[in-house]
Amino acid sequence: MRPSLILGIALGVVLATQAPSLLAQEARERTAGELMDAVMWGKEPIGGPFELIDHTGKPRTDADFRDKLMLVYFGFTFCPDVCPTDLLAMGLAVDRLGPAGEALQPLFISVDPERDTPDQLAKYVPFFHPRLIGLTGSAAQIRKAASGYRAYFAKVAISGGNEYTVDHSSFIYLMDRGGKYLGFFPPGTSAEQMAQVIRPHLSAPERR
Ligand code: NI
Repeated sequence: MRPSLILGIALGVVLATQAPSLLAQEARERTAGELMDAVMWGKEPIGGPFELIDHTGKPRTDADFRDKLMLVYFGFTFCPDVCPTDLLAMGLAVDRLGPAGEALQPLFISVDPERDTPDQLAKYVPFFHPRLIGLTGSAAQIRKAASGYRAYFAKVAISGGNEYTVDHSSFIYLMDRGGKYLGFFPPGTSAEQMAQVIRPHLSAPERR
């Protein structure tokens, strides 16, 4: 056989054996533990671009918030306890920052786009802060945004009906004016703690 043919066959074998495993890896949803590991020890970059729709129906991208710090939380409006607690703390933290807090944009990204339509979000977000922006989108858009932030979510059926809940990680991400990741608050962080950590970032210009 000619060398090029042998090379071609060898390459074909390599592609045939590797391609399916690569595809499987991409399609596989990452576990809550893997993603927590990635966030907690800063093992992977956090953040990145998103294209979503806000609670007024307006298309929004991460670039819309580029001159502000972003406080980003993933959750869903039907969440019985963790989401409301953390969103309330986020809203109170913004208020505690006073006029300087205008430069902080709180964002709530739904991980339940089926039920969290813009209308549903519009009924929900004002409970927590008048400037809280609710974001939703297609399943693919939500998955992309969540992947960038290494946020975990998975639909879980509630036995005996069509009802479901959504398991999700509850880190609150702080991003700088350039959209770069600064750090996270764990669930249950108080408004005062959040305000204390955020305050110096509002007054000091961020390094780009
Ligand atoms: Ni929740």
